[in-house]
Amino acid sequence: MTEETPEPVEPVEVPVDGGEPDIVSGEAPPLVEGAESERPIEVEVGEKLVEVRNLTVKFGGLTALDDVTFDIKRGEILGLIGPNGAGKTTCFNAMTGVYRPTSGDVLLEGQSVKGRKQHQITRLGMARTFQNIRLFGEMTALENVVVGLDARHRTSVPGALIRSPRHVREERSSVDRAMALLEFVGISQHAQKRSRDLSYGSQRRLEIARALATDPKLLCLDEPAAGFNPAEKEDLMALIRSIRDEGYTVLLIEHDMKLVMGVTDRIVVLEFGKKIADDLPPVIRNDPRVIAAYLGVPEDDVA
Ligand SMILES: Nc1ncnc2c1ncn2[C@@H]1O[C@H](COP(=O)(O)OP(=O)(O)OP(=O)(O)O)[C@@H](O)[C@H]1O
Ligand SMILES: [Mg+2]
Repeated sequence: MTEETPEPVEPVEVPVDGGEPDIVSGEAPPLVEGAESERPIEVEVGEKLVEVRNLTVKFGGLTALDDVTFDIKRGEILGLIGPNGAGKTTCFNAMTGVYRPTSGDVLLEGQSVKGRKQHQITRLGMARTFQNIRLFGEMTALENVVVGLDARHRTSVPGALIRSPRHVREERSSVDRAMALLEFVGISQHAQKRSRDLSYGSQRRLEIARALATDPKLLCLDEPAAGFNPAEKEDLMALIRSIRDEGYTVLLIEHDMKLVMGVTDRIVVLEFGKKIADDLPPVIRNDPRVIAAYLGVPEDDVA
């Protein structure tokens, strides 16, 4: 492994065998006061927010992502689908600085992510969750979200050490905003629990809250509903829709075709690292190439 080697990722994976009652179900609440983005959000769908240009990622002899090009428009929910091993997570990793692309580029509002580290790309406005949950297991749910908010703070290290008035002010507003984000994703009742003690479903939601805390222009979700039962999946899709309704742009990897058809505005399909389709959900649903790519999964998932 040469330059594709992933950089170390700070958060640790935590076990998912929490014992607390599950997440609050039902429609996601409107974004509560205090959780609003501090960035002016423009929700004009149509304008390009992200340009993925000829993105290629090779692992030795394996081309995991092969010359993939697509745009993400501001305010849309774009689905990224494809069979196992198609290159979906690799695409996220190359976009968010976990892997350095072999060639090609990703532009966010015209700015290249090339050569930038993960935290710099986060600051640029791209946040993501992981297929395998990564949280600070010993920290509370609230603290995990505050960490996300800290990614944007301007207080200098000396300022933080001597607890300048500005630091105290930011700390207080961080806690308020983190609480509001926990409420938004439906787990505020677990704010003071260690994240490792949360149920699997709550941990998935906590990851989303932490990613939102960085105030992203693009939120990338890697199979956020993996392992959920159908009712939990529906609830999560409602949350994703309400995130979009708040003005965020969402890139969603999801295996469940029915789910993806119901929540996305447009879908990009990968197969063996190549883009094989990029269209509206009803067109994707009837695309023979896409159907063929999914042969081998239960027919219900394709219908
Ligand atoms: N770090 C790595 N080193 C070597 N090969 C890798 C690495 N990461 C991914 N791959 C390979 O790249 C290909 C694409 O993997 P990727 O994880 O992007 O697929 P995916 O579409 O996310 O699949 P899934 O639906 O199973 O999550 C696979 O063949 C995988 O084995
Ligand atoms: Mg994956």
